[in-house]
Amino acid sequence: MKRNKITIVGAGNVGATAADIAATGELGDIVLIDIVEGLSEGKALDIAEAAPVRLYDAGIIGTRNWDETADSDIVIITSGLARQPGMSRDDLLAKNVQIVKDVSRKIAEYSPESIVIVVCNPLDAMVHAAAKITGFTRNKIMGMAGALDSARFSCFLASELGVSVKDIKCVLMGGHGDDMVPLPRFTSVSGIPLNELLAESKIAELIERTRKGGIEIVNLLGYSAYYAPAAGAIKMAEAILKDQKAVISCCAYCESEYGVGGYFIGVPAVLGKSGVEKIIELKLNKTERQQLEKSLAHVKQLAAKVDELL
Ligand code: 2OP
Repeated sequence: MKRNKITIVGAGNVGATAADIAATGELGDIVLIDIVEGLSEGKALDIAEAAPVRLYDAGIIGTRNWDETADSDIVIITSGLARQPGMSRDDLLAKNVQIVKDVSRKIAEYSPESIVIVVCNPLDAMVHAAAKITGFTRNKIMGMAGALDSARFSCFLASELGVSVKDIKCVLMGGHGDDMVPLPRFTSVSGIPLNELLAESKIAELIERTRKGGIEIVNLLGYSAYYAPAAGAIKMAEAILKDQKAVISCCAYCESEYGVGGYFIGVPAVLGKSGVEKIIELKLNKTERQQLEKSLAHVKQLAAKVDELL
């Protein structure tokens, strides 16, 4: 049987960790590509050398040559600058949009049938850029943010409640910024509504921690998170490659959905072999809708900046 081909662009912390997780999960053969000489080759070789110990079958190569990426099923874009202390994700826009532009051109040339998952920041704006440059149908382009932000919320909830992370199910919407919209009304612990188990003030505290989850790590490490972002991206790739029809919060193109009007923003979506196969429309209450509108206004502003720079 032909194996899936997964290209991961950028062999930095997120890219290399994503390659490691994808290889360990035997999701397919992996091409790790970077412009820095030796970086992707060295990390790919190191991951390949772990296979006989950890016992998985997945080819992995590192390269600087786009020919090697040809006909990938999935391309994950992790390349670009990451935040340092004192920076917001939006501060990365001008530099990262040029990187995403170059990479997107290569993807359209070498893997025109692929599905693209964008990970670099500011996330929603970078997905907008990748969609414009590749010209791919909108179901084939998406961004990884909700998988990470909902994992953070789930992690904090599980720890507060003293329950398994496996039992937490949550939905998170909006852009990948401080105005993201975690939805406690749609969060449960093995089917038990969250508000049965936690006081409103505690839920609000954990939502705030989730909103600031990225900068919490940047302030600790001096650079950006990568284990959880990489895990989120590979969860999405796996849902697509295995046609799981998994419901995952991710940055997807919305036209009439939620009245978004043609932007990429975080929504609960069904991911399967065609990419984003369906966007699930929840009946939001007034407060939730206001929060989503605020976040959408921010996403639109960043998309306009991208349009100026492309
Ligand atoms: C984060 O939230 C990298 O944006 C990513 O950590």
